[in-house]
Amino acid sequence: QTYTEQYRMQYHFSPERNWVNDPCGMVYLNGTYHLMYQYNPHGTQWGNMSWGHATSTDLMHWKEQGVVLYNDSQGAIFSGGAVIDYHNTSGFGDSAMVAIYTSAGQTQKQSLAYSLDQGINWTKYSGNPVLPNKGIIDFRDPTVLWHESTHTWVMTLAEQDQIGFYSSPNLKDWTYQSAFGKGMGAHGGVWECPDLFQLEVQGTSRKLWVLMVSINPGSPSGGSGTQYFVGDFDGKSFTLTPEFELLLNPQPTDEVLVFEDFESGYENWTVTGTAFGQAPVAGTLPDQQLVTNYQGDQLVNSYLNGDAATGSLTSAPFIIESNYINFLIGGGHHPDLTAIKLIVDDQVVRSATGSNTEQLRWYAWDVSEYAGKSAQLKIVDEVTGGWGHINVDHVYFSDQAIVQKEAFWVNHGPDDYAGRSFQQTPDGRVLWMSWMNNWSYAGNLPTSTWRGGMSLPRELTLKETPAGIRLFQQPAAEVYELRQDTLVIQGDLDALNTALVGRAQSSNQYELRFSINQTNTQSGAGVILAAEGSYYTQIGYDPKTAKVFLDRKHSGVAFSGDYTQLFDFSTSELQSLNFQIFVDQSSVEVFVNDGEELISARIFPTSGATGLRFYGDVGSITEVSHFEYGNIWREA
Ligand code: FRU
Repeated sequence: QTYTEQYRMQYHFSPERNWVNDPCGMVYLNGTYHLMYQYNPHGTQWGNMSWGHATSTDLMHWKEQGVVLYNDSQGAIFSGGAVIDYHNTSGFGDSAMVAIYTSAGQTQKQSLAYSLDQGINWTKYSGNPVLPNKGIIDFRDPTVLWHESTHTWVMTLAEQDQIGFYSSPNLKDWTYQSAFGKGMGAHGGVWECPDLFQLEVQGTSRKLWVLMVSINPGSPSGGSGTQYFVGDFDGKSFTLTPEFELLLNPQPTDEVLVFEDFESGYENWTVTGTAFGQAPVAGTLPDQQLVTNYQGDQLVNSYLNGDAATGSLTSAPFIIESNYINFLIGGGHHPDLTAIKLIVDDQVVRSATGSNTEQLRWYAWDVSEYAGKSAQLKIVDEVTGGWGHINVDHVYFSDQAIVQKEAFWVNHGPDDYAGRSFQQTPDGRVLWMSWMNNWSYAGNLPTSTWRGGMSLPRELTLKETPAGIRLFQQPAAEVYELRQDTLVIQGDLDALNTALVGRAQSSNQYELRFSINQTNTQSGAGVILAAEGSYYTQIGYDPKTAKVFLDRKHSGVAFSGDYTQLFDFSTSELQSLNFQIFVDQSSVEVFVNDGEELISARIFPTSGATGLRFYGDVGSITEVSHFEYGNIWREA
């Protein structure tokens, strides 16, 4: 078939008709990749959740196989995974393809269906659900994998704000093992669609596990996003590597812990002013104004609740014996409400403010120059005539800076959600595909007969970087089979742009590679694409901020919904940045530095907006090649 509608991606999967969201049931069997997906058979908006099914022998050309799972008395068919039961542990039959999905009815619970003919005909298991609801609303999106060393099936499940791990000998009987994630990573929204897989750190024999967790909303690029955790998994529980533990959940044990929170450690502080709605009482804290917030048993934060006017808390003098003073700071209902100051010899030598526009975040003051000196900490509520909080917590004295990361994100762009890996790939590659969309506006994409589509298939790896072990993502090798026509271009910017004219001006369907030499870039460099008149999408490097960005402010059709427009990330001090950009009608995927960073975004250019040109200083753009891309909408 051929699809010619405006905005139809030509080398990314999308269904011929109707609504699609999460990829589901991704598994390999006998030379064929199976991709199932959240699908509405009756419309172009979310609803009537069912599983559609498509197959491919090369991860690129997909053939739709119709709807395989329709809702039933247990509910709609929400997201889940699929495995091949090669040893017939379930008794469903040899090499049965078994789907594990969420039945979303009154409550969410997990169910099975199986196919004995390579995914064409399916039978729902009569014993459904295999994992009943355990009293929480968000209890969904199972991924099942075969855990080789313990010879068990493992299920990861999204349970509101954590991932539950279950194990089973037969896919039918599941035993709860452990949970991970409360208070860890980003929690600005509900956790969804977990996935778990093992990878060898490239160039080493170290094997680690990666836990992927989608979250909606709460992503730094707006709305939906995906975070990852790196650790170990023994078949029962997931534990972060020490490096990830330190960054995500710093809890130094060998350093001196001075002030844990406002519930303890502040006995010797002096209160001044009237910030807390009461007269100062030296040496005691106004208990009645103490607010503590718990998530389960865990203290999330505690703060003093101030009632108009200003005030401060001053610690007893102490001797500086460590290199760093680390603390968490946030704010109340005013920006820059809380300040913390370090006083040495009656001088304020360090100061930091917390703001209500940010969550609690870590500060690390290097105080090594004051070693041996007597000092005091002072926490000040600086609002006048308002109401607010003092929120400084977890003051640690340590020789290392403790800088907490909120989370590790899979993508700096907005359109990469609810991804999964293919189970049981023949060569052990971890191949990933996601829904190239965002719940903030998914229902408003300006398309007609269908709505939604998938990312390119990516291969995931772990690599050692100067900052530590990180997830890398590159296009699966199969993507390059779509290259049709290669142009390698050399020369200055004019020569590059001249060479591109005529090639890229007729369609938004190509791969573009180039490098930006940071040392030759004083005023910024990059590429402007899908351009015509005042419409364009810009991707580049800005030396003023040392950031790589994708700007879709002027990309074209604006539609309603929370449509964030500029995405960026900071670069480390490298001499050269390499870019690999895939443009496909209404999608842009930007892989930077061999897949260390990724920005994926949907764009909706007006019909003539196909231009492409570089900008930058002399010598800033090098190593350019351009590949026209074929179309997957023909039989594989
Ligand atoms: C993620 C999600 C899943 C759910 C599915 C419903 O995008 O919200 O948590 O199973 O979509 O279609």
